[in-house]
Amino acid sequence: MQFRMRRPTLVSEDADAVGESPTRVIAVTSGKGGVGKTNVVANLAVSLSRMGKKVLILDADLSLGNLDVLLGLVPRHTIEDVLVGSHTLAEIMLQGPAGIHVLPASSGVTRLTSLTEAQQLMIQEQLADLAAEMDVLLIDTGAGISPTVTFFASSADETMVIISPEPTSLTDAYALIKVLARQYRERRFKVLVNQAKSPREASEVFGKLDVAVDRFLHVAVELVGTIPDDDYVHMAVMQQKAVADMFPEAPAAQAFKRLAQQVTQWPKPGLPKSSVQLVWQRTATHVGN
Ligand SMILES: Nc1ncnc2c1ncn2[C@@H]1O[C@H](COP(=O)(O)OP(=O)(O)OP(=O)(O)O)[C@@H](O)[C@H]1O
Ligand SMILES: [Mg+2]
Repeated sequence: MQFRMRRPTLVSEDADAVGESPTRVIAVTSGKGGVGKTNVVANLAVSLSRMGKKVLILDADLSLGNLDVLLGLVPRHTIEDVLVGSHTLAEIMLQGPAGIHVLPASSGVTRLTSLTEAQQLMIQEQLADLAAEMDVLLIDTGAGISPTVTFFASSADETMVIISPEPTSLTDAYALIKVLARQYRERRFKVLVNQAKSPREASEVFGKLDVAVDRFLHVAVELVGTIPDDDYVHMAVMQQKAVADMFPEAPAAQAFKRLAQQVTQWPKPGLPKSSVQLVWQRTATHVGN
């Protein structure tokens, strides 16, 4: 994707030849709110960082961001300051637990629910520069099917849709996948089941989504993991900590560790998966490289 193309010296087409990997960009999203996106992003980031990866998180829930709160951070500036032009993304970047890097969003700023094309381009360009220094960029989108959510989701190499066993989470995930498939021509999605009571429940809930999207949307969904329903997650949230940081032996923390190990095994970013990525690649090639 375009993040790789703005820094040809760091991650070029020769990257494989010299053993360098392009930045892996993963958007974590969901149809329904409250299914655990922010927890997944925070814990996956901590787990990847503990494996020696350089990780950057973008809180792309621009109007109701709370990743900073979950991680106990107190940002002085947020993406809102970047969008009004008073700061750069590099200037608002914070250090989180385990050495992760965090780009915090604002909360309660309704005008940020939809970005203009110029704002999208500005974020994209600045993010590309920061991401080029990282192994993984994780994007925590808001819930739902707003243009900002679908823009960030489709701009990543991988879209990871979080579902929970609740029937409403399934119908909302289906709706989100439908929009991404129809509007951005996305054809493949990673799915993570969160708050599962058992592996069996997780595979049943994934199976329902799999059947529906295969039959009606003709897209592929892949189950990439299951995070158990775990009281330790709640306890960590109350302490404004990631469970992987505070209770590394907890069942959910162990599941995040397995997910992180798996993520590093995913095939390297290849062909763009959506129309937005193609547009961005052309733009990046045109303006800089
Ligand atoms: N695996 C889990 N086990 C137990 N509780 C969990 C788990 N994952 C999430 N939760 C609970 O669900 C709450 C919501 O999680 P989180 O804020 O990560 O969801 P979200 O999808 O980011 O929400 P929003 O759509 O509002 O951004 C957490 O505060 C936590 O209490
Ligand atoms: Mg959230």
